[in-house]
Amino acid sequence: MSSHAQDVLPSTPILVTEGLRRDFSQPADFIDRIGRTLRRRGAPLPVQAVAGVDLEVFHREVLAIVGESGCGKTTLGRMLTGIIPPTAGRVLYRGSDVTHMRGAERRAYELGVQMIFQDPFSSLNPRMRVRDIVGEAPVVHGLVSRAERDDYVCELLQKVGLDPDYRERYPHQFSGGQRQRIGVARALALKPDIIVCDEAVAALDVSIQAQVLNLFMDLRRDFDLTYVFISHNLGVVSHISDRVAIMYLGRIVELAPTEQVFADAAHPYTQALLKELPVLSAGKRQFDPIVGELPSPADPPPGCTFHPRCPLAMARCRVERPMLREVSDSHWSACHLNDGMGPTGAQRNGAGTEVATLSPYVEPEKNSTEAA
Ligand SMILES: Nc1ncnc2c1ncn2[C@@H]1O[C@H](COP(=O)(O)OP(=O)(O)OP(=O)(O)O)[C@@H](O)[C@H]1O
Ligand code: SF4
Ligand SMILES: [Mg+2]
Repeated sequence: MSSHAQDVLPSTPILVTEGLRRDFSQPADFIDRIGRTLRRRGAPLPVQAVAGVDLEVFHREVLAIVGESGCGKTTLGRMLTGIIPPTAGRVLYRGSDVTHMRGAERRAYELGVQMIFQDPFSSLNPRMRVRDIVGEAPVVHGLVSRAERDDYVCELLQKVGLDPDYRERYPHQFSGGQRQRIGVARALALKPDIIVCDEAVAALDVSIQAQVLNLFMDLRRDFDLTYVFISHNLGVVSHISDRVAIMYLGRIVELAPTEQVFADAAHPYTQALLKELPVLSAGKRQFDPIVGELPSPADPPPGCTFHPRCPLAMARCRVERPMLREVSDSHWSACHLNDGMGPTGAQRNGAGTEVATLSPYVEPEKNSTEAA
């Protein structure tokens, strides 16, 4: 687990999201269109891939974004890098709203925030040599001249642990780990401040994963980098991240320094993710998966969207959405259990007396998935 969170967290954030949302309209197929016409249902509901995210990314930190498949991690990463625009909300880079950036300011943002993708096999153009994959964009953007390009590419390949002589080769002539290193060199070539790594080691063998993670950490030191590290695996990010944001169905449900997440997770979803991590005890491999499936982001459950799967769900969880609150220093959680309220949404004073009701009490339905 990273021990430098306190050293690198201060200062002003360089990337901020405010109420960031992204919907996708679902293209209805032919059968679906006929069914909808017959049932007078109208157009399909949009998918709320990201449903309102407020985040701050600080200089030189590694912020991990973790959650199950389909919770919106990639969509959030693509909005951070400007690959897709938000439906609502905004992204601020060095204090300025990126949607209003033009000219040199826009270019600084586009170069300053780079993304590395999960699949090193499909993210590199198979018809381009490594020297062009890494060296073309910096020439186009005027970061190096054409005459300097070859030296620049050699230097970058060395930095990512590849032999510069390989620059004449094509992507298919490399292993998975080497291809990911080429992807890293391509991102570094644009002299970014922030790299958004989307499942950047997920496709690699475990032994190679560790090498690439170490490379990321070395590069942070050498190039003064900040990372947003997207992963579905809490175990992977535990080794490198300073803070972890846990995402569920398009929202951040817990945000805390990595040590806190592992020692004192406040949100039942985070606790469930931690239980999913395999542990070796007495020679046995234990694995405790989260019950149920992630609900459709086109039709999220009301109240707390985790309630159908939450073993601690209460009546109010089905009607009232919990807000992200600071439960201890720099530790945020969106759960009614963390807001000092009772099962009915009533604030308890020191003597345990209910003093204010915030939401109506709803009787649990029969056959509810809640476990009281
Ligand atoms: N271009 C798109 N058009 C329609 N729906 C989309 C599009 N991109 C993503 N989605 C939907 O948005 C939701 C979030 O997708 P996203 O890829 O961001 O999740 P993820 O957390 O990155 O998942 P994974 O771990 O599988 O990569 C999913 O339900 C997905 O099907
Ligand atoms: S708000 Fe309720 S359903 Fe949601 S995580 Fe907390 S206890 Fe579980
Ligand atoms: Mg993804």
